[in-house]
Amino acid sequence: MTSPRVLILFAHPALEKSRVNRVLADAVRDLPGVTFRDLYQHYPDLDIDVEVEQELLGAHEIVVFQHPLYWYSTPAIIKEWFDLVLQHGWAYGSDGTALVGKQVLTVTTTGSSEESYQPDGLNLYSLRQLLAPVQRTAEFCGMEYLPPFGIHSSFSLTGEEVAGHAADYRRVIEALRDGRLDRAKAKTLPKINADLDSLLGGRS
Ligand SMILES: Cc1cc2nc3c(=O)[nH]c(=O)nc-3n(C[C@H](O)[C@H](O)[C@H](O)COP(=O)(O)O)c2cc1C
Repeated sequence: MTSPRVLILFAHPALEKSRVNRVLADAVRDLPGVTFRDLYQHYPDLDIDVEVEQELLGAHEIVVFQHPLYWYSTPAIIKEWFDLVLQHGWAYGSDGTALVGKQVLTVTTTGSSEESYQPDGLNLYSLRQLLAPVQRTAEFCGMEYLPPFGIHSSFSLTGEEVAGHAADYRRVIEALRDGRLDRAKAKTLPKINADLDSLLGGRS
């Protein structure tokens, strides 16, 4: 492999308190073909370097946003990143074609249970519905949006369960990197990790 294909943009504003995202990050940060970038570490004051971010995007084919779900959305730095980096004439508009054809995946964790993210549950909307702004932003820029990798009930997961999700995350990133993930099938699922074995052609 000559250059990294996957860019993971990681955002956790209180990493010292993290139980789940920290373990997920450790499972993928050193993978060959993957660039792992901690946005809050680079930009603690949200002072995003647009040129650097655009250059990184240009150099990768798959963009992953990994973060805890905060107030039914992304942590603030990802919204700031969208607002500043996805410029007219570069990311969208008649001359803005820099991102066309790239793939986008959200990897996120929630405190509430999976059942609560149903029409008759506490949160009324599914994770996929709540992430519609990210999906539409990606699609508006000509990118292909995959269903999210979602992990629920973060506070009650055992260490073993967290490790299992981290191993699944690693498998998804490796499969995306290697072009082995069945994206057409994935798009029929509410979450990319709802039925991983069927997307990856069995356990590897
Ligand atoms: C500011 C804030 C907002 C949150 N908003 C939500 C939310 O909207 N829905 C939810 O299910 N959990 C919410 N949570 C819980 C986090 O999603 C949860 O703590 C996180 O996913 C756990 O991952 P970690 O162990 O890596 O921190 C929120 C937590 C914080 C601190």
